[in-house]
Amino acid sequence: MLNARLVGASTMSLVGNFAFNNYDATADRAGAVAQPGLGRPVSSHYFNTAPSPTEEEHHGLHGAKSSYSQKRRRSTQTGRPPKDIIGTADQLDGGKEGGTEDSTTDDEDRKREDEVLGLARRLTAQSSHTEPSESPFYADGDSKLNPHSKNFSARAWAKAMLNTHLGDPKTYPLRTVGLAFRNLNVFGYGVSTDYQKDVFNVGLEAWGFAQKMLRISRRRIDILRDFEGVVNAGEMLVVLGPPGSGCSTLLKTIAGETHGLTVDPKSHLNYQGIDSKQMHKDFRGESLYTAEVDVHFPMLSVGDTLTFAARARLPRHVPGGVKKTAFAEHIRDVVMAIFGIGHTVNTRVGNEYVRGVSGGERKRVTISEATLSGAPLQCWDNSTRGLDSANAIEFCRTLRTQTEINGNTACVAIYQSPQAAYDIFDKVIVLYEGRQIFFGPTTVAQEYFEKMGFDCPARQTTADFLTSMTSPQERVVREGWETRVPRTPDEFARRWKESEEHKRLMIEIDEYDQRYPIGGEHLQKFRESRRAQQAKRQRVGSPYTLSYSQQIQLCLWRGFQRLKGDPSLTFTQLFGNFIMALIIGSVFYNLQPDTSSFYQRGALLFFAVLLNAFGSALEARSLTP
Ligand SMILES: Nc1ncnc2c1ncn2[C@@H]1O[C@H](COP(=O)(O)OP(=O)(O)O)[C@@H](O)[C@H]1O
Ligand SMILES: [Mg+2]
Repeated sequence: MLNARLVGASTMSLVGNFAFNNYDATADRAGAVAQPGLGRPVSSHYFNTAPSPTEEEHHGLHGAKSSYSQKRRRSTQTGRPPKDIIGTADQLDGGKEGGTEDSTTDDEDRKREDEVLGLARRLTAQSSHTEPSESPFYADGDSKLNPHSKNFSARAWAKAMLNTHLGDPKTYPLRTVGLAFRNLNVFGYGVSTDYQKDVFNVGLEAWGFAQKMLRISRRRIDILRDFEGVVNAGEMLVVLGPPGSGCSTLLKTIAGETHGLTVDPKSHLNYQGIDSKQMHKDFRGESLYTAEVDVHFPMLSVGDTLTFAARARLPRHVPGGVKKTAFAEHIRDVVMAIFGIGHTVNTRVGNEYVRGVSGGERKRVTISEATLSGAPLQCWDNSTRGLDSANAIEFCRTLRTQTEINGNTACVAIYQSPQAAYDIFDKVIVLYEGRQIFFGPTTVAQEYFEKMGFDCPARQTTADFLTSMTSPQERVVREGWETRVPRTPDEFARRWKESEEHKRLMIEIDEYDQRYPIGGEHLQKFRESRRAQQAKRQRVGSPYTLSYSQQIQLCLWRGFQRLKGDPSLTFTQLFGNFIMALIIGSVFYNLQPDTSSFYQRGALLFFAVLLNAFGSALEARSLTP
């Protein structure tokens, strides 16, 4: 279910879409084989068979193409440039440079350019400036521009998209958000005793309530203690730890979903120049938390669910002058194709009680919905739950491509991460009972613990090895190191604080704070970019993209779709009311217009109120399946 928070999220950026068709390059890098299960990876075969663009077609694009290549190469040589607000061509720059030099070849550059051009193509054709015959809007049958056709060519499609984007002077600048945190403490409150309420102890309950109100005898539960880290824009962080160690709490804190939690006011959080208060108030939709469970309207079809998500973040100006509804539908179709749920467009989403799409497909609906938000900071809480390992890797790859091209930042909690998925990430944080025992590049994490005196058993994945540090039964201590290795969570945390890696991290955080001072230039740019996307009538400080009337319109549309999806309750009610109206009407038929009917009229009014009250009781049933 898309909540209001999501409605406020930024409009999915055009270039964000390029990401999806790009993940075969990332797949090569990750050393994994592209899986046909999730989505429609654009194979190199596809690129070979796609016809090459004609000179005329690309006349205006060469400049952008070559400048992109140059930038890409330069960035590979000089390391990751700090991502700021990114524009149309700039944002194709950067990405995961560290450790991937060998794969960032010209070949790959060319392939990515091709994909980007291809994805852009289709929208140009939708624009009012192009010939209807080129438009995917009017494309039917076996056209390359028709996403439902077998011949659908992502390349031709994306070329149209980029054409539009580059040709549109009103195009908004895209924005990015990174994050640095220090002294991050999060706690909750619990009561020391709890019991089943009954007639006799209800008095005690009142006393407990009074205590709660007066804030006495509340027990503070420390969930996260003294966390530190920095995730630059365009980076991916994997959060590792056993259940109960605080993974969800960390992600929620980063995304600002702190209901029921207390973040220590002394904690320092710097969202690339924006403080946490402003980030979670004015820019609420810019940081997204995708919960572990899939909550959707069960009776709504997959297509409608995702259409709502796409329309909720339509920008003020859709590039190329495309009709907004068509644009949203188009983006939706692309995302569905990418995640391989195109065939479920008319199927109900369903839930535990209502039969709908399968569990894995539902998870992909959730992922698609969140992807459509295009939020620059995304937190995914165990979103690979219920997916097989091939699909889990595919999910990480899609995220990787988004972060590379669009400059998004992703924090992902994964239990049982396959090696190929782990390798996709830039940084890792390891949690042990609410303590941070490591933060740093994924490539050095294993070495850090091996240096400490632990052995990684053969064929154990790095992620499993790191998580095994938090379990005395699982971790393997090297012979002779038994007395030297840390044992308790506190000992691990102390070792981390004393380590070289920690010192390096502190320097990195300081540099980050200097580069992005709170309230500095970046905030200004971020706000401007956000403003350019919001509807004209929306307040500048509002986290919502759509104006109030647009939101109402959209929700009404969804309400109607829900009614269509499950009309039984409404019709039962209508039918019931009709019968009751006949019965009550016949009882009170022909009342005289004088005081003799006074009491009957009172009774009639009573019935009218009573029946409506019972009617809403029926509605309550529809809230809980
Ligand atoms: N609001 C809260 N108040 C008190 N304790 C909480 C609260 N939220 C979570 N916890 C506790 O904090 C610990 C970490 O929770 P969580 O972040 O959900 O773990 P994970 O996602 O790693 O499984 C758990 O022991 C949980 O019981
Ligand atoms: Mg959790």
